[in-house]
Amino acid sequence: MNARHRAPVPSLTATPSRRPVRKAVVPAAGLGTRFLPATKATPKEMLPVVDKPAIQYVVEEAAAAGLDDILMITGRHKRAIEDHFDHAFELEQTLAAKGDTARLDAVRDPARLADIHHLRQGEPLGLGHAVLCARRHVGDQPFAVLLGDDLMDPRETLLNRMLDVRDRHAGSVVALLEVPAEQVHLYGCAAVEPTSEDGVVRVTGLVEKPSSETAPSRYAVIGRYVLDPAVFDVLERTPPGRGGEIQLTDALQDLAAAGTVHGVLFSGLRYDTGDKVEYLRTVVRLACERPDLGAEFAAWLRDFVSGLEPGRTERDRPAA
Ligand code: UTP
Repeated sequence: MNARHRAPVPSLTATPSRRPVRKAVVPAAGLGTRFLPATKATPKEMLPVVDKPAIQYVVEEAAAAGLDDILMITGRHKRAIEDHFDHAFELEQTLAAKGDTARLDAVRDPARLADIHHLRQGEPLGLGHAVLCARRHVGDQPFAVLLGDDLMDPRETLLNRMLDVRDRHAGSVVALLEVPAEQVHLYGCAAVEPTSEDGVVRVTGLVEKPSSETAPSRYAVIGRYVLDPAVFDVLERTPPGRGGEIQLTDALQDLAAAGTVHGVLFSGLRYDTGDKVEYLRTVVRLACERPDLGAEFAAWLRDFVSGLEPGRTERDRPAA
């Protein structure tokens, strides 16, 4: 980890903002098939990362960027997400009676982060469709989209940089991560041109999950967007694309062709908790960094790893 990542974790309370962007949409209605059977009755966005569900980190990030109105797009597991961001009176009363203020705060925090709304997608017709469901709530204002299973390290400033670019250039803004050629087929991929600003590019085209041979670059679109409301009209007429789903990338391709999409380059820490291996890495890394758990857990981890020879698993270890 480089020095940049040792900065103190910023406050999670909302910062006052005069920005026109106040609303965030958090799509969390996907089927999460890569995480079955855990996601049979639980949304993948509710899987715990140490002791908080993944989606809480995402809502904390939005709130820290001054987005105080958050719309969750949920699917058939609506209840779990709704309950998590609501008050839990019985639990709160019990903890209050015991004087357990630390746990009481942990229970109350999610409901205090922002003004949180919920909308059901009905059918998981794709990320583009999930965003389109937000049209009435968002209205005619620019808005942010944060994918509910895509975590940014709390010390990263990506969303703020994207909101600044929207302020200066209008239009829509995507976040771009340079990935190895063999991984571009997992993402939407952008064709880009440099601008006069460091770390900001103009996006001239977008392709959903291209092969490494046809990809226009190695810049992958990751789960943060600042979108102009013009995207809704485009989404209305976007037909199902790759995988039979209405793809946000396809709608953004239309806007990029019209010259209204910028990209902010990101090279920091980001965790895709919708992928099993990446999820495990995220839990281990964040657990090691926790002041209350890190020392004990890291000591065990060092010992555990030293006993693992390449190609062997814990099961193959001789019994002590
Ligand atoms: P993914 O591409 O990760 O799809 O969605 P998924 O269906 O959730 O997961 P797998 O691939 O089957 O394991 C990216 C984001 O878009 C949301 C998901 O909840 C996730 O946050 N999404 C996707 C929706 O809200 N609605 C959809 O119809 C599809």
